[in-house]
Amino acid sequence: MILRLFQKNPAFALLFLVAFVACKKNDPIVTPKNDEIVKTGNLNLNEILGRPTNTSVTINILFDQPEEVYWEIGTSSGVYKLKTNIYTSLKGVPTLADFTNLSQNTKYYYRTRYRTSGSNDQFVAGAEHTFHTQRNQGESFVFTVESDPHPYDKKGCHNLWLLTLQNQLKDNPDFMFDLGDTFGDDHNASTITSDEVKQLHLNDRAYFGAVCHSMPLFFCLGNHEGESGYYLLQSPPDNLAVYGNIWRNYYYPNPYPDGFYTGNLMIEGNPVGKPENYYSWKWGDALFVVIDVYRYASSGEKPEKWDFTLGKVQYDWLKSTLENTSSKYKFVFAHHVRGQGRGGITNAKFYEWGGYEENNNSYTFDTNRPGWGKPIQQLFKDNHVNIFFQGHDHLFAHEVLDGITYQEVPMPGDSTYILGKTANGAAYTSDVIDGSGYIRVTVSPLNIKTEYIQSYLPKDENGTQKNRMTSFSYTLN
Ligand SMILES: [Fe+2]
Repeated sequence: MILRLFQKNPAFALLFLVAFVACKKNDPIVTPKNDEIVKTGNLNLNEILGRPTNTSVTINILFDQPEEVYWEIGTSSGVYKLKTNIYTSLKGVPTLADFTNLSQNTKYYYRTRYRTSGSNDQFVAGAEHTFHTQRNQGESFVFTVESDPHPYDKKGCHNLWLLTLQNQLKDNPDFMFDLGDTFGDDHNASTITSDEVKQLHLNDRAYFGAVCHSMPLFFCLGNHEGESGYYLLQSPPDNLAVYGNIWRNYYYPNPYPDGFYTGNLMIEGNPVGKPENYYSWKWGDALFVVIDVYRYASSGEKPEKWDFTLGKVQYDWLKSTLENTSSKYKFVFAHHVRGQGRGGITNAKFYEWGGYEENNNSYTFDTNRPGWGKPIQQLFKDNHVNIFFQGHDHLFAHEVLDGITYQEVPMPGDSTYILGKTANGAAYTSDVIDGSGYIRVTVSPLNIKTEYIQSYLPKDENGTQKNRMTSFSYTLN
């Protein structure tokens, strides 16, 4: 039967072959074990920064044994004038601490001090790490975007993902985005247990923990996180979506509305609480808006056509966020236009995103979304969104619709370097490039520079393929 499928569809056969060869060719694909959280980065701790503001940042630290811990913080390397309280951290249980009373627009240096709980030992000093508080208007800065690491299946090569993360750190970004398909909770959607979902989230600490000690992480939900409206309805609260949300929040500090960030005000009660799924903030001259294209569509596992929705509450928040900002630049992030399907601007014209019917091109937004006003693409256009970033299709593609850049973000760890382009390249209309890597964005008062930085494993480098090479770039003035 597979043979017949191959005969009918040579492209599928090629893809299958590539995936098969890639798996053979890859360095051994390892599944990180619990104890690997301690082998990447420092010896026995794993730090992830999140929620940077004008006066604070949050650290989520994980130890492999009970520790007492505090942090030293300063504005010059090696000189730490600030000190936090001492926290008690249990084995394998994240400890959250906020570094507060910081100065705006400032680079900070910090190090973790820790000792075995209950001992009188000296506090050991961890390596010095850094972060930056909110930039003032007129300040230049860098941020990076990756999507679809897929470490939980054959598509994601762990070594290459780690290399791409390390490449991002070398750019000294103020923060990084991961646009989802990162935890892979939905592969056994109806039978997966909370413990299994927990393990999937813990596994990725080895990778994010290697770099996010100095590069705060912003996470955007993908379809394979399983935090969808459909799964939320399956025997609540014992379902994939609830498990995913709990363990994501547990290991990865995403923003929630707090005066600096705006976002989802809904508190979903026990056991989820604040979903931390959509949010926005200002940094320098830019407005950042991360949306969730999965939680509020519940018609099935893959809602299509008008069944896809941001939900009225999120839509109204997005509209007011875009309409009421004074920021010069505006960036919006989602896993994919309308959550499912393939392609960028061709999808953006239809249904809730664009307002038109796909089959006859008639405009039916007001009938299907009475009282909403305008589709998402029109919101973007009227409010001069500069770049919409998405992943899902596993390749680099750059398109423009109504003056808005649609930037498809490549996989960070596809060691075949061609999976996404082979499978989904035809769904894009311009500037389609294969390879693995991430997007580096440099925001300055004069312009926005966007670059595709490719990653190559040492064994795959040659005269034309170099790790950290820029293979495409454009500037928006
Ligand atoms: Fe994906």
